[in-house]
Amino acid sequence: MTTTGPLLRVEHLGIDLHQRRQEPRTLVRDVTFDLAPGEALGLVGESGSGKSLTSRAVIRLLPRNAHTRGTFAFEGEDIQTMGRERLIRYLSRDVAMIFQNPRAHINPVHTLGDFLTEPLTCHLGLTHAQAEERLLPLLADIGITDGPRRLSQYPHQLSGGLLQRMMIASALVAEPRLLLADEPTTALDVTTQQDVMAILDEQRRDRNLAMLFVTHDLELATAVCDRITVMYAGTIVEQRPATDLHTGRRHPYTAGLLAARPGLGEPGTRLPVIPGRPAAAHETGEGCPFAPRCAFAEDRCRTERPELRPDTDGAVACHRADELDGDLDRPKEAAL
Ligand SMILES: Nc1ncnc2c1ncn2[C@@H]1O[C@H](COP(=O)(O)OP(=O)(O)OP(=O)(O)O)[C@@H](O)[C@H]1O
Ligand SMILES: [Mg+2]
Repeated sequence: MTTTGPLLRVEHLGIDLHQRRQEPRTLVRDVTFDLAPGEALGLVGESGSGKSLTSRAVIRLLPRNAHTRGTFAFEGEDIQTMGRERLIRYLSRDVAMIFQNPRAHINPVHTLGDFLTEPLTCHLGLTHAQAEERLLPLLADIGITDGPRRLSQYPHQLSGGLLQRMMIASALVAEPRLLLADEPTTALDVTTQQDVMAILDEQRRDRNLAMLFVTHDLELATAVCDRITVMYAGTIVEQRPATDLHTGRRHPYTAGLLAARPGLGEPGTRLPVIPGRPAAAHETGEGCPFAPRCAFAEDRCRTERPELRPDTDGAVACHRADELDGDLDRPKEAAL
């Protein structure tokens, strides 16, 4: 992987929601990360932690009343100040997005052929026939061998898994360099999930495509990503290479997520859970956002917000990280 700089750099991203006659509400706070060309970064956390908003900020697809702070740049170019033409080129050529529910993003009254050829005819100036010619080998690559028939069909004629493969094809066809995948398999049944994820992973690696992979499934993220960024309450609490996460995690929240995986304990034993419920960014006070649920929290954690500090192979936002030295598996009772 040769690179002169990151493909995507997000620095101190904040997202506030402005509502009439109400104080602005913070949804995302001080999020910083970068993504190298060809690298896969997993954005992981519980529901409401700000993963989707963070990934949507990168394509300027936020609610109208959301105001952003900080900077985000694609190959060093500020995404927020891109002019109309450059923005269209960025959105149609440089980056592509795969969403959770393909049915909500594919127009039900058009054929899949229309859906898939549109980016090529509109933005690359190909004819419909040329576009189809380019599409068929791509469909074959992702396991769709009867391409011509599929292209003549309507979305309701395809299963969820097949439709998500079509979505992957539409994301790949313009040969983007950055893929944003937001829970791309969550709406599918388990076996279909595995098939679709394997295709996405294989295609991404073959094409040396960078990916921002949004998921609540830490296990899945570690399987398909190079690095993991763990979010909690709209902010980043830990970043680490995927291969080191299990042994090298230093944040009590990451340890809690890892311990809460089904299938780890003895049959019949209770699954460890993180007590309490996830907090939204605007609900958190001065201290560490995770402190109210943390077995290791002490006074300082409740009054002073920890910064995300780089360490040997990643970064962690925990006042007690050095002192605990990764010893986060002690039973809760012993930790208190
Ligand atoms: N359009 C909106 N208006 C108001 N609040 C919003 C809006 N979109 C998101 N939020 C709030 O912002 C916070 C972060 O939302 P986001 O969708 O980024 O979470 P997420 O991590 O993707 O969660 P999930 O795993 O459920 O998809 C949540 O508290 C959510 O309720
Ligand atoms: Mg989401």
